[in-house]
Amino acid sequence: MDGPSGTGKSTVSRRLARECGAAYLDTGAMYRAATLAVLRAGVAPDAPEAGPVAVAAELESGTDPSDPTIRLAGEDVGAEIRGPEVTRAVSAVSALPEVRAVMVARQRELIARADGIVVEGRDIGSVVVPEAPLKVYLTASDAVRAERRGKQDRRAGREVDAATVLADVRRRDRLDSTRKVSPLHAAPDALVLDTDDLSVDAVLDELLRLVRERGLVR
Ligand code: DC
Repeated sequence: MDGPSGTGKSTVSRRLARECGAAYLDTGAMYRAATLAVLRAGVAPDAPEAGPVAVAAELESGTDPSDPTIRLAGEDVGAEIRGPEVTRAVSAVSALPEVRAVMVARQRELIARADGIVVEGRDIGSVVVPEAPLKVYLTASDAVRAERRGKQDRRAGREVDAATVLADVRRRDRLDSTRKVSPLHAAPDALVLDTDDLSVDAVLDELLRLVRERGLVR
C-alpha cells in the first residue's frame, strides 16, 4: 500500500491486515522513529551526522495489526513520532540513501518472516517488494488529505490550523516525490484508488474484493 499521507492508508492497511489475519508493517513509522533518534541526539536533520545516527538507531517494529508498536532503544515511541517536530524533519532523513538502504533491508526481512503481510509506505510496490502479489496506490486531492490530517491531529489532542496543515501536506508531498532515491510514485502495475469520494469502509471493501479475487486469503 503506497501513497501520500492523508489518504486513509494507515487505517485501511491495518483493517485490511486484521480482516485477512495477516501481519502489518508501517514503514513510515520506521522512518519517523529513525528521525526521532536524530532529533534526540541533538543533530539537525540536514546535518552530515543525521544519516549515521538514523542508521544506528535501535528500532523494533511490531507487526501485529491490532497493536503495531514501534520501539526506539526499547521505548515505545508510537505517540511521539507523530508529533510536529518529527513530521517536519522526517522528509530530510528519509531522503538519505544510506538510511533508505538500511530500512529497506529490515523491511524485506520482516516481510520474508511473515506469513502474509500488509505493508504501507511510499516505495513498497516500486522498490521494497516489486514482486508483491497486490499493489495498491491510494491518492486523494491535497485539500481532502489536509482535512483528514487535521482531524487526525485534533483527535490526538494536537491543536492545528487548517492552513498550516495544508501547507505541511504540500511541502511533504513535494519533498517525498522529488527526492533522488525512491521518490513517491505509483508502481506501473499498481492499482490506483482515488479516495476523495470514498469512505474508509468503501476502500476496505474494494481491497477485500481484490484480495479474494487474487486468492490471497486462505
Ligand atoms: O506515512 P508517514 O506520514 O508516517 O511517513 C512519514 C515519512 O516517511 C514520509 O514523509 C516519507 C517517509 N517514508 C518514506 O520515505 N518511505 C516509506 N516507505 C514510508 C515513509
